[in-house]
Amino acid sequence: MTGIFENRNILCGITGSIAAYKVCDWVRSLRREEAEVKVVMTRAAAKFVTPLTFAALTGNRVYGSMFDSQDEEKIPHIRLARESDLILVAPATAQTIARLAHGLADDLLSAIVLASEAKIVVCPAMNSKMYQHAATQENIEKLKKFGYRVLDPESGMMACDEEGPGRLPEWAHVREAVIAALSPQDLAGKTVIVTAGPTEEPLDPVRFLSNGSSGKMGYAMAATARELGAKVILISGPAQLIPPAGVECIKVRTGAEMYREVLSRFDTADIIVKAAAVSDYRPAVFSADKIKKTGEKAALELEPNRDILHKLGEIKNQRAIPPLLIGFAAESTNLLEHGREKLERKNLDFIVINDITAPDSGFAVDTNRVILLDRQGGQLDFPLLAKEETARRIWRAALKGRL
Ligand SMILES: Cc1cc2nc3c(=O)[nH]c(=O)nc-3n(C[C@H](O)[C@H](O)[C@H](O)COP(=O)(O)O)c2cc1C
Repeated sequence: MTGIFENRNILCGITGSIAAYKVCDWVRSLRREEAEVKVVMTRAAAKFVTPLTFAALTGNRVYGSMFDSQDEEKIPHIRLARESDLILVAPATAQTIARLAHGLADDLLSAIVLASEAKIVVCPAMNSKMYQHAATQENIEKLKKFGYRVLDPESGMMACDEEGPGRLPEWAHVREAVIAALSPQDLAGKTVIVTAGPTEEPLDPVRFLSNGSSGKMGYAMAATARELGAKVILISGPAQLIPPAGVECIKVRTGAEMYREVLSRFDTADIIVKAAAVSDYRPAVFSADKIKKTGEKAALELEPNRDILHKLGEIKNQRAIPPLLIGFAAESTNLLEHGREKLERKNLDFIVINDITAPDSGFAVDTNRVILLDRQGGQLDFPLLAKEETARRIWRAALKGRL
């Protein structure tokens, strides 16, 4: 498996915040995903973490001063500015944010940012009063106007024993922002609805019918659509997953709720991805009281849930520009035959077929091996990949049109 950051040059600009130690782990994660990482530290940053730590973690020398004799012949700020695909300023102090907002170039990091055409991602971290101060807020607005991505800090208890916004965001969110900044924005201006996870069909107050879907594939489709610049609405059944940053997440429990939430947004969607494992049936009767044990045999009467995907396929051509419909099929036998039949019957544009009998594919695992079919008879077999990477390749193929 290749790393998502393979062949990407990422420059980490570390500044003088107490949160600098957290970025040591981020650098390791970037390296693990095959980024080429260079580190520039401000003078204040080196008071918090030693350059040696970052040198050991990256395998590269760490840059500090603009007038470093080792680089006399190469003008380091220009070389580093040109070499970088992305500059991640994290943690970004109030001071550095002010410097960047005013176009100052009095230290190596700010000179590099000024001289670079790379994507810039800034992760503020500071005391909440400093963060909320009008000066800092104005500076952040300026950075956004320059086209930099400035992440919102998290709220919570800080090292200075104050509570409020100012904590460095979690790596999972920063990683998503970095990937998005490096991705082509092929879905910019599009609204994508993704359904994910299982549904729960209650039988009584404590029992329900459900299935083993974890929601991972749907969440990966939502996260990767966001990377490509889409406005994403994730309609999720009960899943133990954190919704991707920047995605609107609507939580539902039953198939009927999911039906309502999807159909009420049908008109707004350019693309609908149905990755949820909606229960085909629900108990015909819901008992308001917990059903008592009798010791006798018992039978459960079920009635069918409405088929969301089928309904979408039925109404999609009523729209002047029909939305693109991508369905998922979890199959255990005759994968291709069942998948193609479902594609036709439900009037889909693409179907992603999961072989749920393979231990490393399908429900609840982190990897998937899928087959993508289109309406024109095209077929694409993907190798075993992380679900996130599978999702990216599905988008790449679907956005090209025919397979
Ligand atoms: C213990 C300590 C913790 C600090 N933490 C932060 C911080 O989290 N955010 C911030 O903006 N400044 C913080 N500062 C202040 C900065 O280090 C100071 O403004 C410095 O000039 C920043 O320089 P730089 O942006 O060039 O790294 C802290 C200072 C000290 C002494």
